[in-house]
Amino acid sequence: MKTVERVEALREAVAGLRADGRMAFVPTMGNLHAGHLTLVREARRHADSVVVSIFVNPLQFGPNEDLDKYPRTLEADRRALEAEGVDLLFAPPVEVMYPVSLEQQTRVEVPEISALHCGASRPGHFAGVATVVCKLFNMVQPDLAVFGKKDYQQLLVIRRMVRDLAMPVEILGVDTVRESDGLAMSSRNQYLDAAERRIAPRLYATLCAAADRVAGGGRDWDRLADWIRGELDSAGFRTDYAVVVDAATLLPPTDRSDRLVILVAAWLGKARLIDNLEMEIK
Ligand code: PAF
Repeated sequence: MKTVERVEALREAVAGLRADGRMAFVPTMGNLHAGHLTLVREARRHADSVVVSIFVNPLQFGPNEDLDKYPRTLEADRRALEAEGVDLLFAPPVEVMYPVSLEQQTRVEVPEISALHCGASRPGHFAGVATVVCKLFNMVQPDLAVFGKKDYQQLLVIRRMVRDLAMPVEILGVDTVRESDGLAMSSRNQYLDAAERRIAPRLYATLCAAADRVAGGGRDWDRLADWIRGELDSAGFRTDYAVVVDAATLLPPTDRSDRLVILVAAWLGKARLIDNLEMEIK
């Protein structure tokens, strides 16, 4: 596996890969776990070559968030990607991604959907994500890009950006990979101490219990969201938000909604955990 840090070297390497057929891309912030490696395997299933990027993107972190503490494990990540047969790793330093200051950087804004839920709690976050993903797409020029559904809102923001800007890239969403007790895999799980780690699976268990209520005929979405919040807060979380929304728009369900998603974000100690559960309704 070749590793490149500069855009010129990246362009040269991807030109060679593209000549061999369809190229898939998995953007990451590193500190790779089994969830990321599942994205890499899905990318491989759909393409002839796979490019991965590792870049901890300062533009998507708020002033009081964990940018400096975000775990950076490049050597271990490189070995894991090599073992997966990844063709090319792009690991640019900040000055390659952002040669101008962050304030001067042109940004991509995906309106409305970016302001909801996680966007309301983390102003500017999705503009930071859309900007870096747009820039990475321009640099790598993949046929296909793969994202995890754990970041459900992020996946929808990226799909809209691609649609609205007519970007020639197919977006594939991949199901969340979970620990055996149901906790969604995330780099932020390592911020949990032992007692918090024992509580953490209650997040997904509560989503499943809420889905059972819907399957049992529950249709009062605000009441269900309040119930989820109550369950989580009494288990020891500090719920940031819990919503039951249309899976395509992330807005309150309407009579025409046939697919819903429950989205939650909740603090457990220093970790802000997110998770979601999609469901069909008749
Ligand atoms: O999901 C992530 O790891 C990041 O938000 C992404 C898509 C790599 C952009 O920095």
